[in-house]
Amino acid sequence: MTAMRLHDLEPSTEEFRRAVVRGLSATPRTLPCKFFYDEAGSRLFDRICELPEYYPTRTELRILDERAGAIADLLGPRTRLVEFGSGAGVKIRLLLAALDRPAVYVPVDICRAHLVAAADALAGDFPDLRVAPVCADYTEPFALPATPGIAIGTTAGFFPGSTIGNFMPDEATAFLRRARRLLGPGSAMVIGVDVPKDAAVLEAAYDDAAGVTAEFNRNLLRRMVRELGAEVDIDGFRHEARWNRALSRIEMHLVSRRAQTIRIGEQVFAMAAGETIHTENSCKYGVDQFRSMAGRAGYLPVTAWTDADGLFSVHVLRAP
Ligand SMILES: C[S@@+](CC[C@H](N)C(=O)[O-])C[C@H]1O[C@@H](n2cnc3c(N)ncnc32)[C@H](O)[C@@H]1O
Repeated sequence: MTAMRLHDLEPSTEEFRRAVVRGLSATPRTLPCKFFYDEAGSRLFDRICELPEYYPTRTELRILDERAGAIADLLGPRTRLVEFGSGAGVKIRLLLAALDRPAVYVPVDICRAHLVAAADALAGDFPDLRVAPVCADYTEPFALPATPGIAIGTTAGFFPGSTIGNFMPDEATAFLRRARRLLGPGSAMVIGVDVPKDAAVLEAAYDDAAGVTAEFNRNLLRRMVRELGAEVDIDGFRHEARWNRALSRIEMHLVSRRAQTIRIGEQVFAMAAGETIHTENSCKYGVDQFRSMAGRAGYLPVTAWTDADGLFSVHVLRAP
């Protein structure tokens, strides 16, 4: 257990139950992707990051590695870093190593167990850094932990992994606007954004040969069984990743292999053969398209980098 003070706003089982019932009652049926990330789901996501097909992690790491010095120059000394969806906390290490005496690190994640383990490991490796984890759903309001007695320079958000793509474009703009207000005037935002590309590359990244992403998707059903006592035939659903070119997004679905029911307490959901539960969107944005979105959220674009193959982008934004 960590000696750090954890600010704990982890969504309750009741919130999960309400979201599942709402999503399965909708037409077409959906489940919110933020609930992928219980302990098992977080571990599966970490395995996805290592897969040969999953270019986003290694490409973003490469860009961050090359540009960490430039980011450190833009942010200056004694930065307070707030990471949204911090997960295993791998990418932040590149920034922390490059920054001039970083002061505070606030990892924010919906999965308490994964957050605490990652924050603990990081605090051990950066003993001069104040680590103040917040377990929260970042789509809901939360406050930054007070860190009295610590001199702070720039406050910077860090939102890697193209997790911004899990929002629909209007939700993404609203998220950026809220983040800008949370971080305050003069703050920065360093954000990783995946870009549109060949459908085959995209679909392979979200439907790997080893079947890890399929397991990640089906873990949502397993979590319903574990936490809600749901009655569902997990093998009765297959994973599907589709590139929706018109909406520039990868969609993940759980496709019912046959007519069947899902039961949660008194609620019964009858699924037809071939009917799907839409579990995730990963929207992709060109560099200029994302800059315009950031502008609509009140941010000024400072710079953006892509890798040599143009697979992924990292943007630095500034709040006026
Ligand atoms: C796509 S993973 C990215 C992880 C890591 N940042 C990376 O770049 O590899 C999304 C992360 O955001 C967290 N997450 C997803 N939705 C969230 C939400 N609504 N509030 C807080 N954390 C969330 C997940 O637990 C997970 O760690």
